[in-house]
Amino acid sequence: MFSIHDSLFLKALQCLNTSRAPIWLMRQSGRHLASYRKLRERYSFLKICYEPELITEATLLPLRRYPLDAAIVFSDILLIVRAMGFNLSFDEGKGPLIHPTINETKDILTIPTIPNLQSLEPLKKGIQNILNEIKIPLIGFCGAPFTLASYLIEGKTSQTFKKTKQFMLSHPGAFQELLKKITDWLLELLKLQVKAGVHVVQIFDSWSYTLSESLFRTFCLPHIDCLVKYLRTLDMPTIIFCRGSSSFIADLIPLQPQALSIDWSLSLKQARHIAPSVALQGNIDPSFLYAPLSVIRQEANTILDQMQGDSGFIFNLGHGIKPDTEELAVQTLVETVLNR
Ligand code: CP3
Repeated sequence: MFSIHDSLFLKALQCLNTSRAPIWLMRQSGRHLASYRKLRERYSFLKICYEPELITEATLLPLRRYPLDAAIVFSDILLIVRAMGFNLSFDEGKGPLIHPTINETKDILTIPTIPNLQSLEPLKKGIQNILNEIKIPLIGFCGAPFTLASYLIEGKTSQTFKKTKQFMLSHPGAFQELLKKITDWLLELLKLQVKAGVHVVQIFDSWSYTLSESLFRTFCLPHIDCLVKYLRTLDMPTIIFCRGSSSFIADLIPLQPQALSIDWSLSLKQARHIAPSVALQGNIDPSFLYAPLSVIRQEANTILDQMQGDSGFIFNLGHGIKPDTEELAVQTLVETVLNR
């Protein structure tokens, strides 16, 4: 009988995969899927995130369309800020909006010290439902403290991170306090997901690449370390994705995650040289999915050639699928990997 432990994805995370490369795709569920757009005609994004049946449905949509090797829970890294007491909305075309924002050091005191995740019970139920429906591993996730702090200070996705950097550089002690507080909330969020049954956790640090290496070491690393250490006590494999910051992977190795997810600014071959004994995930530029199908096949094969025989390789994109990507492009990519 098939056991989840036979999963190529879980084997690759332990660097024990001797078969083909497993594949899943960041943002595999989302607007590029016609079935998701149809679901969104009936429900808002946040409505989907807070209804167990809809979380399940949105998680399963990509699996019905492509034979992927892992599922990722349908949710968002920003739901935690709502649990912390901030208002969160996703206005059409505007991306996320958070208010009030953290403007002064005293605003940090408004965040409750004792995390309360009552509002995220639907996420727990959603995870439990999904596990009844799938025979592949389920990935849980959270945002990294720095990325979440930037949203609390900017109130939206920023182009310049001016307010975040001003705050961080003017009040480094208070900024560390904010990061610690966020980390405490994330530990609870991770506990919730692990208890509900996820098999792996990915930490998304989307904005750390805007920092210098020294600021990354000061404001990102210690807090990601805290999350990974906690997950290790729960025997939970961890993937770290610091978007756009493949140059920081040497700094991430000592944290001992199971895998590093890298973007296309570094070849997987170079990454393997820097990180010889950790699983590697990546790294095709999602823009290749706009290219002719023959070019998609060619690029996928180039990556597969580079990682041929590597027992710790997981095929993925270097960042999420863009919403205007054709399904046929994604299908072609997945088939190229599966048919090697
Ligand atoms: O399929 C999956 O990958 C699982 C679900 C998932 C979503 N967001 C769903 C989503 C995951 C893992 C995320 C992570 C996330 N969310 C990140 C980190 C990864 C990255 O992209 O760097 C960040 C920064 C966010 C915050 C966020 N959520 C933004 C900036 C936006 C708006 C931009 C956009 O793409 O619309 C979202 C909304 C969001 N999160 C959507 C989805 C499917 C689109 C919602 C919709 O309009 O239907």
